[in-house]
Amino acid sequence: MARQLDPATRNALVERVRFYRDLGLTEFYRRPVDPALLAVELDEPQTSGAPSFPLASAEWVGDPGPHSDPMEDQPISPRKSISAPPEIAAGVPAADRAAALQMIRDEIGDCARCALHKGRNKLVFADGDPNARLMFVGEGPGADEDAQGLPFVGRAGQLLNNMIAAMGLKREQVYIANVVKCRPPGNRTPEPDEANTCMPFLFRQIDVVRPQVLVALGATAATYLLGHRQPLAGLRGRVHPFRGMQLIVTYHPAFLLRDPRQKKEAWADLQIAMKELGLSKAASSR
Ligand code: URA
Repeated sequence: MARQLDPATRNALVERVRFYRDLGLTEFYRRPVDPALLAVELDEPQTSGAPSFPLASAEWVGDPGPHSDPMEDQPISPRKSISAPPEIAAGVPAADRAAALQMIRDEIGDCARCALHKGRNKLVFADGDPNARLMFVGEGPGADEDAQGLPFVGRAGQLLNNMIAAMGLKREQVYIANVVKCRPPGNRTPEPDEANTCMPFLFRQIDVVRPQVLVALGATAATYLLGHRQPLAGLRGRVHPFRGMQLIVTYHPAFLLRDPRQKKEAWADLQIAMKELGLSKAASSR
């Protein structure tokens, strides 16, 4: 007998298929279902936390977070040159990474190093697996992130979750952080002095997690990670060697929400990341 899907799951599936279509994926294959597996799946309680399917876009609430600026493809002016700290020679052992990240968090403390602390509700340090092979870097917290103290939990975060799922991964398997850890007023782009004050902590987080692949989401992340300004168009679509890792630049999800036609380009960038990580395309169509 055909399995009846509950309306929420059905809507989520429809949204997922629409999302793949927006990315340019139009062919889908159904794998035969092993009845034994289906029985287990049906018996399994639903876990709380991240939904097993992305939320429908109609359910997305709140603002998309920073980077509501239409200048996605424009370089950011860092005003003074950004000097990245020297690379750490030896990586932190996997078992010590969570503690090493906590030390960075403790050092940041109740930060008042730049003006952004004045409007902050919660400082947004990061989210995800300290041993992740894939890390995403955004611009800075928006209203939802500022309220929850977690990166990418608003509307742009839902799209990022979809992008991660399309890669065949779960959000919990990646590490997510931002250029600045406090919300810029009105979601404006962080000022160079704000970004430059916060970047040393991000570099340390990156060096601890040492992901194989780092994805810079948008021009702000790309500029401050690479240390030079260049239009996004010239940075996308290839791998940049970065502190012994591979950096890929793509559009910010908030930009993709405003211009969904660019999702196809973003998907092409994510496929480069998948190739570097040895993730198969087949895995992503699950
Ligand atoms: N936009 C970002 O750049 N970062 C977040 O955490 C949320 C929205």
